[in-house]
Amino acid sequence: MQSTFNHENETKTHVAMIMDGNGRWAQSRGMLRIEGHRRGMETVRKMVEAAPELGVGTLTLYAFSSDNWKRPAAEVEALMRLFQLYLKREVKKCIENGVRLSVVGRRDRFPQRLQRAMERAEEASRHCQRLHLRIAADYSARDMILRAAQRVASDESLSRELFARHLSGEPHDGEPTPDVDLLVRTGGEKRLSDFLLWECAYAELFFTPKMWPEFEKSDFKQAIDDFRHRERRFGEVPVAHANAA
Ligand code: FPP
Repeated sequence: MQSTFNHENETKTHVAMIMDGNGRWAQSRGMLRIEGHRRGMETVRKMVEAAPELGVGTLTLYAFSSDNWKRPAAEVEALMRLFQLYLKREVKKCIENGVRLSVVGRRDRFPQRLQRAMERAEEASRHCQRLHLRIAADYSARDMILRAAQRVASDESLSRELFARHLSGEPHDGEPTPDVDLLVRTGGEKRLSDFLLWECAYAELFFTPKMWPEFEKSDFKQAIDDFRHRERRFGEVPVAHANAA
């Protein structure tokens, strides 16, 4: 069944993406791995552009896991330069397109310059409401859960909702970030790799063998169409079956 392309007025979906396969994409073409990341940044632009039309209200991208610090220093440095470049070049466009940008994860291990660029991008785009783009950087879901638990250890009145806010490090007075509805992973692997473990409790999963630099808007649309045909039960039984023995 075909869905119409513009879903912008529907209930907003939270899509999380594990952008895997940059290195393999580049190496299989005789290029340096960093060239794959550079091309991967182009894919990020395309996805951010496509998301609102597909009915996506929140897009969380796994840009750098806490375990990625173990990569060769040259690759890590090149990734830092790319983040800096992205923030410098894209923030204006994000604001024009109503995209609010946030960074989730640890900040303190990034170069000061990059930390300042993250803060500036968040501040400048704070008022935007069409899409919430969250870039997960120096991110580990286990560490986020652990730190949130440490902060609230003795609060017995704590609810799941409040805990989720502690997890994302968001202020407690604005709209909370919704749970992930759909998790997309490119690059052929089928695992979560310490990404949004709490928030993905009821996420639908979509794995594709396509490498991130070759993932197109049409692939994103296909993942969303597939998601819209899933039956999400959240542990309940479908209404039609509720009275059956
Ligand atoms: C995983 O592919 C990808 C990364 C660790 C980095 C992702 C970075 C980008 C897409 C570019 C910049 C992003 C932003 C948001 C500005 P991999 O290197 O593990 O690929 P492999 O599994 O083929 O080695």
